[in-house]
Amino acid sequence: MNEKILFVDDEVNNLECWKRLFSDSFPTLTASNPVDALDIMKDNRVSVIVSDYKMPQMNGIELLQRAKRLYPETVRVLITACNEMKIAVDAINEGEVYKFVTKPWDDRELKSVVVDSFNRHRLIQQMRAAEDSTLLTIAQAVELKDHSTKGHCDRVARYAIELAAAAGVNRQMLRQIRVGAWLHDCGKIGIPDSILNKEGPLSLEQFEIIKNHCVWGADVARLAGLPEVVIDIILHHHERYDGKGYPFGLKGEDIPMEARIVSIADIYDALTTDRPYRGKYTREKALEILEGSKGSALDASLVDKFPALARTF
Ligand SMILES: [Fe+2]
Ligand SMILES: [Fe+2]
Repeated sequence: MNEKILFVDDEVNNLECWKRLFSDSFPTLTASNPVDALDIMKDNRVSVIVSDYKMPQMNGIELLQRAKRLYPETVRVLITACNEMKIAVDAINEGEVYKFVTKPWDDRELKSVVVDSFNRHRLIQQMRAAEDSTLLTIAQAVELKDHSTKGHCDRVARYAIELAAAAGVNRQMLRQIRVGAWLHDCGKIGIPDSILNKEGPLSLEQFEIIKNHCVWGADVARLAGLPEVVIDIILHHHERYDGKGYPFGLKGEDIPMEARIVSIADIYDALTTDRPYRGKYTREKALEILEGSKGSALDASLVDKFPALARTF
């Protein structure tokens, strides 16, 4: 087993606790200061680093920033005191850390964050240099997490390619759109099952967590060295033509075309499959809804090409 985790904290008691908690599951390394931590990372391939925030010499964010520059694939987690929460949230928003845990920590929560982090690390490794067929398998594995969406990524890819071909996209880009459509929701690997499969409406806070899947997925794809078209699809598939989407609120043609295409395919598939909160719509009804989203959620010129294709789906 070569997946290692490294804990960094100037309070040695904490290091002892974490060692007890994790050494049965993963080779667990510890460092009581950031300089030692960087030394350890030089000699060991560390999959996940979990660092305290307040430490002498260098704070946890500075350490994780250095780690990011030197070892971008290592997944970074910050542990902070409750009153430092703002720092942690900023660090997440700026892409410096993947997740954070507050002190005093809850063992169960810490474990689940660590498991998520290892999953993310594995996903990057698997995607790297993977054949297309392997990428589909990876996408399907992620899909299993979301109970309502079996077969979703494959269907979205099919619809997206047809639409892209109708829009005159070249062969090379068609291939990349297919991969991007397969992987568009791969960032869901970081979202707790309890939120992903929650019955009934999500709280505002839960929805904010779901929204992270675009950025998380795009980061994974970037680290795995996948093409820009694939990354753009993952990052922007929830943008809306009127600028009211996420994660960036891009508007109109500022949204890469490949993402505008996948967004139509994604919504069409969501409408024509059963969801926990409603049955599936007929093709006619779904097309009517797409038509009604022209200029608001969706790119009108692309939507116009869709009905003729949908007859063959
Ligand atoms: Fe999504
Ligand atoms: Fe989707």
